[in-house]
Amino acid sequence: MNLMPHNHLMWANIGIFTGREDNILWRETADGLKAFGVEALFAGDATALSSSVIHSVTNPLPRFTGGIHIYGGDFFDTTRSQWNPETLDKEPSNGAVIRAIFDRENEKLRRNK
Ligand SMILES: [Fe+2]
Repeated sequence: MNLMPHNHLMWANIGIFTGREDNILWRETADGLKAFGVEALFAGDATALSSSVIHSVTNPLPRFTGGIHIYGGDFFDTTRSQWNPETLDKEPSNGAVIRAIFDRENEKLRRNK
C-alpha cells in the first residue's frame, strides 16, 4: 500500500507495533516537490514529524502494518495538501481519495487470503 505525498500541518508522533512503514520525506522547492530523505519504521520504532513535514508512506509487506498516530491538532478538519503520486502536482487533501485507497488495499487482501 502506498499513500501519496501529503502534509499534516501539525506535529505527529508515529509508533509502529507490527509490520513496516517506509517514509519518503519531501520538500517543496522552486522546481516542485523533491525527495530528500527516507525513514523506515519497523515494529517497535517511533518517530516525531514536525509540522512542516511532507511525507509519502509505503507498506512494503503483504500484510497489515499497525501503528499509533498522534497528531498535534484536528487532523480531519484541517485543510491540508496532497501531491499526485505520478505528476507531483499539488492538490487539496481529499479524505475520499484516501479512504478509497484503504478500501482498495483491504479488498486486495481479502481476495488474496
Ligand atoms: Fe501522514
